[in-house]
Amino acid sequence: MKMELPITEQSNSLSSNIDIQGSDGILRILKQCDAEIFNGWKQHKSLYDFASSLENLSIMAAKIIKNDRGIVVMSGCGTSGRLGFITARSFNQVFPGKFHYTIAGGDRALLLSTEAPEDSWTDGVRDLEKVSTSFEEVLFIGITCGLSAPYVAGQLDYCMKHLEKFCPVLLGFNPVELARQVSIRNWDKTFYDVATAMRSLGEPKCYIINPVIGPEPITGSSRMKSGSATKIILETLFILSANRVMELEPQCRASDIFLSYEILLRCTYLQSKSISRLLKAAGNTFCTGGRVCYLGRDTEGILGVVDASECPPTYGADYDDIRGFLQKSWSALRNNEGDLSQRGPLFNLDWEYFKAEVLPLLSEKDCVIFVGVSPNDAKDLLQLIQEKTCTIGMITTSSPENTIKDPANIISVSISVASEAIEALLPSSFISSSLFTNAASSRFIVSLMSGMCIKWSLNAISTGAHIAKGKVLGNKMIDLQVSNTKLYYRSIGIIQELTGASRHVAEKYLLLSIYGSDTELPTTDEEVLSHISAATGKPLIVPTAILMIRKSDLSVEGAREWLRNQPVLRKGLNNEL
Ligand code: F6P
Repeated sequence: MKMELPITEQSNSLSSNIDIQGSDGILRILKQCDAEIFNGWKQHKSLYDFASSLENLSIMAAKIIKNDRGIVVMSGCGTSGRLGFITARSFNQVFPGKFHYTIAGGDRALLLSTEAPEDSWTDGVRDLEKVSTSFEEVLFIGITCGLSAPYVAGQLDYCMKHLEKFCPVLLGFNPVELARQVSIRNWDKTFYDVATAMRSLGEPKCYIINPVIGPEPITGSSRMKSGSATKIILETLFILSANRVMELEPQCRASDIFLSYEILLRCTYLQSKSISRLLKAAGNTFCTGGRVCYLGRDTEGILGVVDASECPPTYGADYDDIRGFLQKSWSALRNNEGDLSQRGPLFNLDWEYFKAEVLPLLSEKDCVIFVGVSPNDAKDLLQLIQEKTCTIGMITTSSPENTIKDPANIISVSISVASEAIEALLPSSFISSSLFTNAASSRFIVSLMSGMCIKWSLNAISTGAHIAKGKVLGNKMIDLQVSNTKLYYRSIGIIQELTGASRHVAEKYLLLSIYGSDTELPTTDEEVLSHISAATGKPLIVPTAILMIRKSDLSVEGAREWLRNQPVLRKGLNNEL
């Protein structure tokens, strides 16, 4: 029997021709796909159906936050881990020291794609033990959009063995039936086994928050809708919990908070015209061999770093193609392992580093985008960038009465946040609490809202720019890194779908592309892992395999040469695919 594909790995029918759209068309499609976060998908339970579970969970979270020896730990891989980190960082401003995170691969993964540790369930257990050892009560939230990451599976399983201390929560976007059933190295369990065990235990021992929000606009790119929904759910949960800890009346409701995020989505796409201009500029930059730099500060700047970090594994991008820089660098991140800048140039985040090392290399081909900061607040730097004649953009948010005036010669995306959204997210009880001064609480809530709008805008720009560069075929990423088991099997699926080849043939050509010569198909997990390590870091593996199948007379070298001359696969094949 053929297994149904997890929804997070399915292709979205709304975006099947996204690769041949102009920038306005791309924005229109992304808007429709993002709307599914709130509208739900087919017969499945939607975000709003989880409102009461989140309210119940917030009672548990509040109890743990109030306990002197209680903490919240959020954990995940890639973007899921990064969003756990960002949420912990934000809510530690409200309850210092209460929010912790773990991420597969450690803090280097906050910045750089590090997919291999995602496959290790034992690393997950080790990291969770380390962070939780000196506490007596822990709310653990394991984030894995696809219900698939072994790293998170190990942690959830560990929590279930220690229910006297842990309350495990699984956050993801597939029904439990579609959790991953692939075997995990050195373990007798699959993700599916862990998820079904959690389901049997049930609330309040453990929680599964898994609304179905429909497939991603770029198939499998969970940094997009799933990442946004992760941010919405975590922030909703902790706004509710904060209200409970502070014993505010009236309590706000999860559905009201969801509604305000829905309004924020509309506010963001109301600026489609200007986002589209910036997307087009970033696309031109890529097509002429230039680079895109995000310059941001605080949470918005971190979202820029996160947006850029996901492009190498998703689109085979070089780390310098699109890169985020953050004012005050690692001290602004407030991460577990502190300043990692000694580890090499890619760990240098600071604006000062940008000024010294990157700025001198910029030219009219390049594009610099200020994120969450008006270039007028960085006048000296702006002038230096202008001298380089590169394209300059900015993305900011503001309340309607406080709109920033667009500086001349800058492509400005200025999202004005509707007052209804602010009101729903900022219940009057929250403002009047003694823990918060009015100004501090509204700044905090506005920064959550602003972050959401910025994430949607940046995702649209970086995705659209890679589409312009030919890194998407139909709605499939075709130049992904083959750097862990999920991505290995996803690559085989993409090759099959785009060529009509059998699974056997698709895998054969994948290996041919990795090694440049015929290789036996793997029969054990160990063999799959060794193919993954051979593939890691190699460019154009999947497009090369596709091309060899479609043009049967091409050798590996011939296919690579072909791709150097015509990087947009669909164009080169005269729209045959
Ligand atoms: O394997 C890499 C990756 O796909 C990242 O691109 C993504 O952010 C991460 O895995 C998380 O996936 P999930 O949330 O489904 O575990």
